Amino acid sequence: MAHLRGLLSFCILVLLVVQPHQAYGSGRGSFRRTRTDPMMSQANGICASSVIVHGYKCQEIYVTTKDGYILNMQRIPEGRIASGNMTKKQPVLIQHGVLVDGMTWLLNPPEQNLPLILADNGFDVWIANSRGTRFSRRHTSLDAAQSEYWNWSWDELVAYDMPTFFDYVHSQTGQKVNYVGHSLGTLIALASFSEGLQVDKLKSAALLSPIAYLSHMSTVLGVLAAKTFVGEISTIVLGLAEFNPKDPHVENFLKSVCANPGVDCYDLLSSLTGKNCCLNASTVDLFLKNGPQSTSTRNMIHLSQTVRDKVIAKFNYGRPDYNLMHYGAIIPPVYNISNIPHDLPIFVSYGGNDALSDVKDVQDLLDSFKFHDVDKLGVQFIKNYAHADFIMGINAKDIVYNQVLSFFKRQQ
Ligand SMILES: *[C@@H]1O[C@H](CO)[C@@H](O)[C@H](O)[C@H]1NC(C)=O
Ligand SMILES: *[C@@H]1O[C@H](CO)[C@@H](O)[C@H](O)[C@H]1NC(C)=O
Ligand SMILES: *[C@@H]1O[C@H](CO)[C@@H](O)[C@H](O)[C@H]1NC(C)=O
Ligand SMILES: *[C@@H]1O[C@H](CO)[C@@H](O)[C@H](O)[C@H]1NC(C)=O
Repeated sequence: MAHLRGLLSFCILVLLVVQPHQAYGSGRGSFRRTRTDPMMSQANGICASSVIVHGYKCQEIYVTTKDGYILNMQRIPEGRIASGNMTKKQPVLIQHGVLVDGMTWLLNPPEQNLPLILADNGFDVWIANSRGTRFSRRHTSLDAAQSEYWNWSWDELVAYDMPTFFDYVHSQTGQKVNYVGHSLGTLIALASFSEGLQVDKLKSAALLSPIAYLSHMSTVLGVLAAKTFVGEISTIVLGLAEFNPKDPHVENFLKSVCANPGVDCYDLLSSLTGKNCCLNASTVDLFLKNGPQSTSTRNMIHLSQTVRDKVIAKFNYGRPDYNLMHYGAIIPPVYNISNIPHDLPIFVSYGGNDALSDVKDVQDLLDSFKFHDVDKLGVQFIKNYAHADFIMGINAKDIVYNQVLSFFKRQQ
């Protein structure tokens, strides 16, 4: 009985998580991944498809984490028109959120997307792709088909992926790094900085649609993710599986649900991310072609725990003895946001219609910055913005990215 209930909640969660992508996808063909050899990805990688085509230089880079994951980055070293300005460019590292990859930043036309705008404004741009996403699926000893490959949550993004990206950019440029994160890309940054990680290599951080506290999340997902789901799933499957939104079973299930009269999949997008004000239909089409990206089930469980427990803490094994074994404590240790160095320049931009990064949760986050140096914390509130507007909004340049640019320029 408990198993059944767990499984059912799980299916519903899968449905909700994947819905926004499927929403536009039904009737427009399938997401199914063509299995390309990752070694061949140079030719059909993100640089080739989304950067070089617009006349920019771009380099595909692979870095290896301490736990063996081989991660893909793109470097866009200069603007379309190389300025000949000999001043050393400042690096910016850009980190996407969960269930997407670095490509998401590049879907809008060049004059509207953040990486190319930064490049055109004299920054040396580095795009990160988290473990498990399309171009970051290799490992030194594991195969993505093995369950052990998926034995991680966002704790490991903090402990391994982030240091690898930062160390590499820092070592290649010899400069402190400016950071931009969206969604989960903000949570892992806040968690890292609160542990004192990366802060010696960090110049400033821009956090778009920040996710930290998640207890007010107004999506159905948030409600469903609570209590029973996490408890049951974490003991049943221990989170050791790929969470692949493109799994044919999930896809077929979704198609049948979306085909039901009265089920408006477009509205389900709003119900997950909030009512995005400003998306371009062509960009959304590209988003669908790119497809949602895999993460680990354990990561989804960890995120659900963050919703349920109202604290930002490490993964909860769901059993006191397991927690004791891993952490030497019955309750997982917290990431204390107040420990972020008070003089770190931070820019936060959040939206009034964002169902994932709820206004009340952002207020809680800002409260934990109450001892932050006043002149080091910038906050922008955009009333009609929801989660996806920050990466794909047609007016994001005017509203958000120009602010990010002037924030970074102030740090020079
Ligand atoms: C939407 O995207 C298309 C394709 O990139 C572009 O040509 C068009 O100008 C965009 N529309 C707006 C309003 O920005
Ligand atoms: C050269 O680039 C630096 C860093 O991007 C910038 O601060 C400076 O204003 C630029 N100088 C000129 C003359 O454009
Ligand atoms: C998964 O990782 C945990 C540490 O977080 C470890 O204790 C456990 O043995 C791992 N499980 C497998 C099957 O690799
Ligand atoms: C976080 O750290 C601050 C001091 O930096 C302390 O006052 C607070 O109690 C800590 N919170 C938790 C949950 O440990």
